[in-house]
Amino acid sequence: MKHKVILDTDPGIDDTMAIAYAIAHPAIDLLALTTIFGNVSVSDATRNALALMDFFGCDAQVVGGESRPLEIEPRPHSYFVHGPNGLGGVEIPQSSRQAVSQRAAEYLVEKTKQMPGEIDICAVGPLTNLARALELDPTIVDRVKSVVVMGGAVYQPGNVSPGAEANIWNDPHAAEAVFAARWPLVLAPMDVTTQVVLSPDFFADLQEASPRVGKLLADMARFYTKFYRSHSGFNGCIPHDVMALAYLTIPGVYMQKRGALAAVTEGPGIGQTLFQPTGMQAVDNHWVDRPQHIALLDIEAGFFAGHYFSTIAAHSG
Ligand code: BDR
Ligand code: CA
Repeated sequence: MKHKVILDTDPGIDDTMAIAYAIAHPAIDLLALTTIFGNVSVSDATRNALALMDFFGCDAQVVGGESRPLEIEPRPHSYFVHGPNGLGGVEIPQSSRQAVSQRAAEYLVEKTKQMPGEIDICAVGPLTNLARALELDPTIVDRVKSVVVMGGAVYQPGNVSPGAEANIWNDPHAAEAVFAARWPLVLAPMDVTTQVVLSPDFFADLQEASPRVGKLLADMARFYTKFYRSHSGFNGCIPHDVMALAYLTIPGVYMQKRGALAAVTEGPGIGQTLFQPTGMQAVDNHWVDRPQHIALLDIEAGFFAGHYFSTIAAHSG
C-alpha cells in the first residue's frame, strides 16, 4: 500500500529534494503540495510548487497556505540560504496551472474527511497551516494517519539561535499547537537531519545518473552548498526535508524515542523545541499529560545518502 502524502512545504532547495523523492519513490502517492511562508514568501512558495509539478510531470494539487505566523511578526525569509527565487537561482519555466482555490488549512480538513485514516501529512516548513487546520477542526487529529514534521533541535544547537531551528522559530505558537495536539506525530529534528551531508561529488554523480532531475538538484545544490561552506565550514549540504519524508518509507533506519514535545514561545529561547522522553519526571505543570509523540534522534547516515541517490536515479531521466 502506498503512503498517500500531503507535503506542506516552503520550496526551498531541500524542499525540492523532498518533492523529487516523493515523486520518485514507488511507495509514495503524492496527493498535494500545500504551501507556506518560510524560506520564501507564500506566493513564491506556491509559484515554485506549481513550476516544480510541471517540471516533474506530476499532477498533484497545489494549494496556497498561510502568509504569516499566528502571533509573532514575520521573520525575514531565507533567500540567502535558498537563492533569490528559493530554488538556488535556477530558473524553471512558470506553470500555467493555478493553485486550488481553497486555503491549505481548509484543504487539510476536507481531504482528511474524504480519506479518513489514510493521509500522511509531512510538514517541512513553519507549522502555521497545520495549526490553522487544528483551529478549524480539532477532530482532524483523529483522521490523519500520521503527521511527520521537519523541525527543531532537541539535544543540539539550532540553526537560527542557540536553541531554535528555523521552521519552529518562524512560528513558535503554531509549533506549540501542533506539538500539543493528540495526533500521531513524528519529529525529524536537526539531531537527525544534520547526520547527512551531501557533497558536490554526490551531486555530480547524481547528475550523471539522472541527467534531468539529478541535474536540476545538482544545479540547486550549488547555491545551497555555498551557504553551508561559508556558514558551517563543510563542503556539502544537508537534505533536512527529505529526511523527514523518508521516515515514511524507511522508518527502520532511524533511531526513535517516544516522548512529549513543546515549543518555547517567548524570550531568548523562542523557537526552541523541548523534548521529555517518556518516563522522565517533570515537576512543572506544563508537562502534565502532554501527548506522547516520536522524535527521530539518529540515522544510518551512509545508508541514507545511497538510498536517496538510487531512488532519484531509478525513477527519472
Ligand atoms: C528547515 O528550514 C528550511 O530552511 C529548510 O527548508 C528546512 O525545512 C531547516 O532548518
Ligand atoms: Ca523547508
